[in-house]
Amino acid sequence: MEDDPVHPPSVLAAIWADTEAAGFSFPSDYKLGGLLRVLAASKPGGKLLEIGTGTGLATAWLLDGMNTAAHLTSIEANGRWAAIAAKHLRHESRLTLLDADAFSWFGGQAAASYDLVFADAMPGKFDGFDALWRLLKPGGIYVIDDLMPQPSWPADQQQRVDEVLKMLDARTDGRVARMAWAGDVAIAVKLG
Ligand SMILES: C[S@@+](CC[C@H](N)C(=O)[O-])C[C@H]1O[C@@H](n2cnc3c(N)ncnc32)[C@H](O)[C@@H]1O
Repeated sequence: MEDDPVHPPSVLAAIWADTEAAGFSFPSDYKLGGLLRVLAASKPGGKLLEIGTGTGLATAWLLDGMNTAAHLTSIEANGRWAAIAAKHLRHESRLTLLDADAFSWFGGQAAASYDLVFADAMPGKFDGFDALWRLLKPGGIYVIDDLMPQPSWPADQQQRVDEVLKMLDARTDGRVARMAWAGDVAIAVKLG
């Protein structure tokens, strides 16, 4: 079975061209984009959150799955990458792009206020997990990727990944599925 998603968001090619030209090293996987789009579509009217906008690749996939009543907040601390995302997506009324450090942003948010979180940076993935998990509604979906070992990983990265997966498996307030696919993905759903 061919498993590349078809009909990518129309804006994706232009974002990808700028992403490559800028030398952004951590773009989201194309297949993962298709999964994020489907998950976003499962939350009509939902509040979605992305930690680590980068240049806006996954942001575009999420928006492509969202209905008109849904809203996505995406946070990026690096102005250079955020500027590329803003160039292509700033017209989107369903999107708020925040130039902020996600660690400090978590604390100011209401508990159980998000339906889906794509945690694509350290905050809420390898550090500050509880602060981000607290923001998910019951039934809310939590997605992480880049769990497959990479030559560029620092020495302690495998241990950090193993600890996150173990912690997710052990949760009594969530259920997790691991997918050895598209850079390796874990999806957890918060129990009601
Ligand atoms: C894996 S990349 C994101 C890729 C992007 N989601 C995509 O679809 O291509 C991680 C991003 O998180 C950003 N980041 C790292 N630490 C952060 C923090 N504390 N707050 C907000 N963004 C952060 C980095 O600048 C980087 O752009």
